[in-house]
Amino acid sequence: MINLDLDNCDRDADFIYDKGNKVREIYNNLVKRSGVKSNFSPNNKKYLLEYLNKIEDCRSILEIGVSHNRDERFTSTSAIFDTKKDSTIYIGVDIDNKSHLDNETKNIYTIQSDASNIPKVMKFAKTKGVETFDFIFIDGWHSINQCIIEFNGYGAFLSDKGIIGVHDTNYHPGPRWLVERSDTTMWNIAEHRGEEFADFGISFMWKK
Ligand SMILES: C[S@@+](CC[C@H](N)C(=O)[O-])C[C@H]1O[C@@H](n2cnc3c(N)ncnc32)[C@H](O)[C@@H]1O
Repeated sequence: MINLDLDNCDRDADFIYDKGNKVREIYNNLVKRSGVKSNFSPNNKKYLLEYLNKIEDCRSILEIGVSHNRDERFTSTSAIFDTKKDSTIYIGVDIDNKSHLDNETKNIYTIQSDASNIPKVMKFAKTKGVETFDFIFIDGWHSINQCIIEFNGYGAFLSDKGIIGVHDTNYHPGPRWLVERSDTTMWNIAEHRGEEFADFGISFMWKK
């Protein structure tokens, strides 16, 4: 058993905090040196586009977790925007305000909300004429519960030809859970772990 050293706990907290900063500094330096520009790797982008392009006549896309990188060119959001047709309706949901991306001519609409508020997001989607999604990309809050809520909740609105993409399936608990625990009698699952430095993995699921 380890006794708590209550007299010195503030000092210990400072030490842990400093150590955390040191680890972050080392990671940031490694990332800088490796030339990695974002958590969304070129490999992730390659697979995202491959699966998105598999969907014949993709009419609607839902992205959970929108454009979150210093350089917005290196995100799943920009990959989707660069690939989708203007007629394909994009609904992006993020807990932060991403309305600077809205573009009616290109059918790009965002809603600021917790993604777990499915009725609110679906009500918004319906105002844009969307009842079901042909592509759903899960890349928001990575807890197990949040990912299950999103997968089940929005999965109910996946069209028969639809595909669900999940980012960060290598390490993050929620995304990993979806890949490992989904019912394989109901879902095809393709996992792409990637080989590059700082590749967090991407997976795709579609109905059997
Ligand atoms: C890892 S970033 C990924 C964003 C985007 N897919 C990209 O490639 O840049 C996760 C995003 O999820 C958002 N987020 C976190 N918790 C959320 C929640 N409960 N509901 C909706 N969005 C959430 C964050 O604000 C952030 O923009």
